[in-house]
Amino acid sequence: MTPIGIDDIELATSHHVVRLDDFAAANGTDPAKFRLGLGQDEFSFPAPDEDVVTMAAAAAAPIIERSGAEGIRTMLFATESGIDQSKAAGMAVHSLLDLPSQMRIVEVKEACYSATAALQAAVGIVTRSPGQRVLVIASDVARYELDTPGEPTQGAGAVAMLVSADPELLEIEPVSGLNSADVDDFWRPNDSSTAIVDGALSVTAYLDALTGAWTDLSAQGGPAMAEIDRVLYHQPFTKMAKKAQVHLAGLTGEDLDTDIVAGPVPSGSAETGPAGVVSSASDSGSTGPRDTGLATSTLYNRRLGNSYTASLYAGLCSLLDHDEDLAGRRIGLFSYGSGSVGEFFTARVVPGYEQHSSRQAVTAALDARVPLSMDAYRALHATELPSAEDVSTPKVTAGPFRFAGVKGRARIYERS
Ligand code: COA
Repeated sequence: MTPIGIDDIELATSHHVVRLDDFAAANGTDPAKFRLGLGQDEFSFPAPDEDVVTMAAAAAAPIIERSGAEGIRTMLFATESGIDQSKAAGMAVHSLLDLPSQMRIVEVKEACYSATAALQAAVGIVTRSPGQRVLVIASDVARYELDTPGEPTQGAGAVAMLVSADPELLEIEPVSGLNSADVDDFWRPNDSSTAIVDGALSVTAYLDALTGAWTDLSAQGGPAMAEIDRVLYHQPFTKMAKKAQVHLAGLTGEDLDTDIVAGPVPSGSAETGPAGVVSSASDSGSTGPRDTGLATSTLYNRRLGNSYTASLYAGLCSLLDHDEDLAGRRIGLFSYGSGSVGEFFTARVVPGYEQHSSRQAVTAALDARVPLSMDAYRALHATELPSAEDVSTPKVTAGPFRFAGVKGRARIYERS
């Protein structure tokens, strides 16, 4: 059977960053609460002229530049922070990237899970038409009310993936474990720009979904834990991946490593290894917990914050960019979206993947973000753009695309 999976992948984020040490100082909180308690160092925050469209276009542009748009007849845009109740955000991306007219473009939603549904749908399309390629984009701005427990777990980011036959990065395997349950752990009513969350319930709902999806994967004939070399989790904050790893170790009876990075990931040179992390998960046969890439896959997310639909795939970018021993290895991916849906699926890494490393570019983009003072952050957080009158946004972003404002109640985008 022709392998189908991820041929190319790119990560983009916002112009601004909020440092959790500054946040802790302003709130009189011990900074260790964020670095160790949540496993987060910083979070990305969009400029007034950025949103899910500008980040999505910035992530997809290098993919289109590398391989052109030939054969791309579908774009699936996954988000839970959509900018319109009717029109798909992908339409603006289509226009910004000058993509062909002969395409279908839709937006998909189920909290942080929907990019995985989009990925599986893309695999289905390419299975039927192996000459086609599908652009899957996950893009979100994670925003909670000021002064709530969720606030330090905000973030912003987009991951674009090109799905094709004979992919150069990941071959997605056919068996998947699924779990759905109607739970009010996190949602965003139509009249609210911030999410409502029952944090404690969302953690238990996540772990229940992991149990259900893993059990279903086994029932469907999926691989045993011993046959899975690395595991990636949805990371609303990176400590959640550690909780999930402890849970999976309990479910499977396997001795799995549960260490995430102990200190801040240094910014600066992409050549130096990040603090607290062995360069790659090792399968040297030594006794002790098995390293499945938990620390390696959380490096980008510690600095991005939560990027909702993009979070699991930002973890994939981090693993691919930092683990030098992945060729031929099987990765397990657990996707979770509140509400709730969980899916556990597996993929094989294609030899030669390391030639596609974006480590330097991603590190540079994270380092280039402009820090916000706490006053500036709180003011920006409180800014609501009127949608009923024409308005221009200030030129702030250094990214390639910008949200220029609202005209006749329609959102206007342009190249920077
Ligand atoms: N040093 C080190 N760790 C500390 C600390 C300190 N000074 N102070 C607190 N901590 C630890 C706590 O022990 C706790 O660890 P644990 O989870 O291993 O028990 C952790 O920091 C979180 O602190 P806690 O006070 O329990 O929770 P919180 O009020 O900060 O809320 C969430 C945490 C996740 C509920 C909140 O951030 C939230 O609602 N996030 C949005 C929803 C979300 O992301 N859900 C995830 C599933 S989708």
